Amino acid sequence: MEEKGEKLCEAARIGDVAGVTSLIDAGYDVTYFDADGFTPLMYAAKLGHHEVISKLLEAGAPWNALSPSSLSAGDFAMQNGHQDAFDLLLNTGVQAELILGTIARKEKENSHSDGGYLVDRVSFSEDKLMDADSKAVMMAWEKPLMESHAKAVCSGGGHVLNVGFGMGLVDMAIQQYNPVSHTIIEAHPEVYDRMLRNGWGEKENVKILFGRWQDVLPQLGSYDGIFFDTYGEYYEDMREFHQHLPKLLKPGGIYSFFNGLCGDNAFFHVVYCNIVSLELENLGYTTQLIPLPVKDCLAEEVWEGVKQKYWQLDTYYLPVCQYTDDSE
Ligand SMILES: C[S@@+](CC[C@H](N)C(=O)[O-])C[C@H]1O[C@@H](n2cnc3c(N)ncnc32)[C@H](O)[C@@H]1O
Repeated sequence: MEEKGEKLCEAARIGDVAGVTSLIDAGYDVTYFDADGFTPLMYAAKLGHHEVISKLLEAGAPWNALSPSSLSAGDFAMQNGHQDAFDLLLNTGVQAELILGTIARKEKENSHSDGGYLVDRVSFSEDKLMDADSKAVMMAWEKPLMESHAKAVCSGGGHVLNVGFGMGLVDMAIQQYNPVSHTIIEAHPEVYDRMLRNGWGEKENVKILFGRWQDVLPQLGSYDGIFFDTYGEYYEDMREFHQHLPKLLKPGGIYSFFNGLCGDNAFFHVVYCNIVSLELENLGYTTQLIPLPVKDCLAEEVWEGVKQKYWQLDTYYLPVCQYTDDSE
């Protein structure tokens, strides 16, 4: 078994398309991990053998398998500048996740959620908001990002909606633009209490809706700028929020969201940036991803006492979404 796997790794490494094809036909295992923790696909990606990659993927090699240092075949292609190999892996990743998403949505129709994070205690400190499991809900290093999000969603003035208060960083920044109205949705009772204690209930242009965005939808109007950043939810929840954008966002309005999608792996992040842009495009929105360097705000100490390092990339891609009228 091991010998067969080694042979496949070797053929992948040297880019031997005919060799890889005959080994696959002979039933060699494309999901094999060698003693160093690499798959045949990772070797082919490192060296940019895109025909071999294509054969391996067709035979069911896992595009999302991770090496011991948490890198996937796509990361290796990206790091080594193999554009064709990268495109092939990206396309496979996007297609696979789109299909999985459809399956997951079908399954969810039959399941019920138990309240999760929203019924647990949270703790506040100066530089972070943590859940009961020592995972960070929100951290102060994101302040410059939140300021950029606020700038984007306030660029047209008017009425602004923010979903998820957290530490209030984006809301403080939105207030600087003095919008006509500023609606904030927050579902966690302790975060909500803290908002009130800090005077958010008395601000003239602020309207707070306490509850899950899913539940307060009927109380919403339409807005010139919308920002979305919840916690304890999945990509599917944000996707569901996006289905409401045509009602919530005024023509010419700007939508943005916290782009933490797979923030711990560079390649998976690209896959998800593509998926979200595609899905928004299907709803009629164009998405611009504005690169912001974040390396300098992220010293190692930032993560002390935090269970999950949810962001590990050097660049943050700030999404700016707008409706495109094709008839123009
Ligand atoms: C990451 S924090 C938001 C951080 C915020 N952007 C800031 O600048 O500080 C996410 C917030 O969303 C809230 N939240 C989670 N699920 C929600 C839901 N379904 N509806 C509304 N708020 C939700 C959480 O309680 C938390 O306060």
